[in-house]
Amino acid sequence: MKVEIYKDYEALSQQVGMKIAKQLNEKPHSLICIAGGDTPLGLCNFLIQLHQEKRCDFTNAMFISLDEWVGLGYETQGSCKQTLYDSLFTPLELKENQIHFFDGKNTNLEEECEKMNQVIEENHGIDLIVLGIGMNGHLGFNEPGIRTEKATVVPLADKTKEVSVKYFHKELPLVSGITLGMDQIKEAKTIILMAASDKKKEIVKATVQGAVSNQVPSSLLQETQAILCVDEEAGKELV
Ligand code: GLP
Repeated sequence: MKVEIYKDYEALSQQVGMKIAKQLNEKPHSLICIAGGDTPLGLCNFLIQLHQEKRCDFTNAMFISLDEWVGLGYETQGSCKQTLYDSLFTPLELKENQIHFFDGKNTNLEEECEKMNQVIEENHGIDLIVLGIGMNGHLGFNEPGIRTEKATVVPLADKTKEVSVKYFHKELPLVSGITLGMDQIKEAKTIILMAASDKKKEIVKATVQGAVSNQVPSSLLQETQAILCVDEEAGKELV
């Protein structure tokens, strides 16, 4: 794992954005995955700016979702789908066939997993993935202690349920998440792990300098070519 520390959130968002632009410049049909959550929101804004200024062409890009809360769809403010459609896909003027997103409301979740596995296989893997880090080190909904290969439904950790309030401003009866598997994440050709702000400093340290253990899923990326991109606040415990 390589570490890149940027002076603030804006610089972090822009530099990760430039990596995506470079990827699409080199391979316009890339399969890209961007996490939901708060961390990539600045990145999304920067990508929209690149699109509006015609500095990056998204017309052939393919996007796949990382995860979704089981039971939620676009109509729930704070769901991964609502976040990514409103913050990125709609402003980028993507066509529906460029987007493959988990439907957290499908009663047949196995079908959802299979759908995503197929997209990844047909595209020979994910070209570039941008991940956030959960407060417990989860990636997508790969929670501590769980071993996943491909897309899977996972019971949510207590910490994740607790943190979820920040997205929905109220407690929802959330029990599980649907997520790409750890192997699919680790096999992505470019892996970018993003973290920002003081509240992520401990989990960033555990990710980079802690034991490699599936008790902290993000630490498993120490064994990969992942690039951890952080702002100074999130990186301040790194020695
Ligand atoms: C959420 C999502 C992840 C996200 C992570 C970090 O629960 N399942 O996809 O990357 O936790 O979220 P945030 O960026 O809001 O801190």
